[in-house]
Amino acid sequence: MKIIRAKDYNDMSRKAANIISAQIIMKPNCVLGLATGSTPIGTYAQLVDWYKKGDLDFSEVTTVNLDEYKGLTRDNDQSYYYFMNDNLFSKVNIDLNKTFLPDGTEPDSNKACSDYNKIIADVGGVDLQLLGLGHNGHIGFNEPGMAFEAETHCVDLTESTMKANQRFFASMDDVPKQAYTMGIKTIMQAKKILVVVSGEDKASIVKEAFFGPITPKVQASVLQLHNDVTLVADEAALSLVK
Ligand code: GLP
Repeated sequence: MKIIRAKDYNDMSRKAANIISAQIIMKPNCVLGLATGSTPIGTYAQLVDWYKKGDLDFSEVTTVNLDEYKGLTRDNDQSYYYFMNDNLFSKVNIDLNKTFLPDGTEPDSNKACSDYNKIIADVGGVDLQLLGLGHNGHIGFNEPGMAFEAETHCVDLTESTMKANQRFFASMDDVPKQAYTMGIKTIMQAKKILVVVSGEDKASIVKEAFFGPITPKVQASVLQLHNDVTLVADEAALSLVK
């Protein structure tokens, strides 16, 4: 695993965006695996900036997102589709027909998940997967204990994840209780993985996930087994790592 130390959040965002840009320049028709959460927002903003300066072209890029809340429509401002549109898709020249997320409005979980697995297979798999890191070590919405063999599946969100998400909703009752997420198996099949982490509150999980034992209790620990992972983290997130 390659670790890139960034000074702060902005530096982390720029360095991560650099790696994504390199991927797009080297392979204009690449498949990017994208993530939501607050951490990658700066990375997307930097990509938009470079696009506006004429340095990046998204016209041939395909994207597949990690996850989506079950039950939220695309126009719900807390859906991950809305997030992606707001932070990236509407601001660059990407072809919306080449942007994919699990269908949160599909009530049949088996169908939603098998449809999404098929989409990922049809686009030829992911060239570069961007990941954030949950406080409990989750990636996508793969919560502690989930089998590493899982492909896209429907998850019951843990109490701690729902609490972490509560800040975005009017009340705890509005926080979705389930989500569709790529599984660890799907994520591990990406050719390259880029993890972005920022902040002191993530320091202990960074240490556990990347320097502790590989265990389903800490889903991100499986990334230690992938042969092309780059972790871009700021000083605060790396403060417990020598
Ligand atoms: C959510 C997302 C994850 C994300 C995590 C961390 O649960 N499903 O993909 O990595 O939050 O979010 P943040 O970057 O806001 O800490």
